[in-house]
Amino acid sequence: MKVFVNTPEKIAEMAAQRYVKLLNEKPTAILGHATGSTPLGLYAELAKLNAEGKMSYAKCTSFNLDEYVGLDGTHDQSYRYFMNENLFKHIDIRLDHTFVPSGLDTSAETAAAYDKAIEAAGGIDIQLLGIGNNGHIGFNEPGTPFGSLTHMVELTESTRQANARFFESIDEVPTHAVTMGIKTVMNAKSIILMAIGKSKAPIIKETIQGPVTEAVPASVLQLHPDVEIYLDYEAASLL
Ligand code: F6R
Repeated sequence: MKVFVNTPEKIAEMAAQRYVKLLNEKPTAILGHATGSTPLGLYAELAKLNAEGKMSYAKCTSFNLDEYVGLDGTHDQSYRYFMNENLFKHIDIRLDHTFVPSGLDTSAETAAAYDKAIEAAGGIDIQLLGIGNNGHIGFNEPGTPFGSLTHMVELTESTRQANARFFESIDEVPTHAVTMGIKTVMNAKSIILMAIGKSKAPIIKETIQGPVTEAVPASVLQLHPDVEIYLDYEAASLL
């Protein structure tokens, strides 16, 4: 794993350059995207670089990590809505080339079809990840088998609490989500994990310096051949 530490602004710029390089080398790249607060700076930077003509998404395909169960794409807290508002609207990607797991159809067949679609597209070139305070990647909570593919999960209380800031009250935070599995993520050719802020420091230390264990889902990244971790000074403060 390669670890880069800088300010939040600088790590967004550095990570964005990975996309410029990839998209210029492979305009048909398959991109795995994440939601949450962490990638917002990166997404703003990508939109800026795209507007400046530094790279084009016109031939790209995007697969998102996860979606809340019960929310359709028009709900302002759905991850489909988040992606449209924070990235897709601002870049030249074709909306019909962007995929987010369905929060309404949670059948095992539909979950399996998501993995198949990724595979049929040629596999993900860069998978972007944030990390939960409990080490989750996507919504793969502690204890998720490393062999898991796309599936429905019950969110832990700590994850619901952490995400309650986006909803009117904790009661409105969905209890379940559909997420790419750990294996789906590990199948990506390259992975970029970003973390910002002091609250992420303990789990970042465990992820990078602790044992590889299903109790810390992100620790599996130690086993991937091409992972870049971009941290701000606070998230890196316990390394
Ligand atoms: C989002 C996702 C989650 C977040 C994680 C961190 O699609 O899969 O794993 O990346 O919960 O969220 P933030 O960035 O809001 O701290």
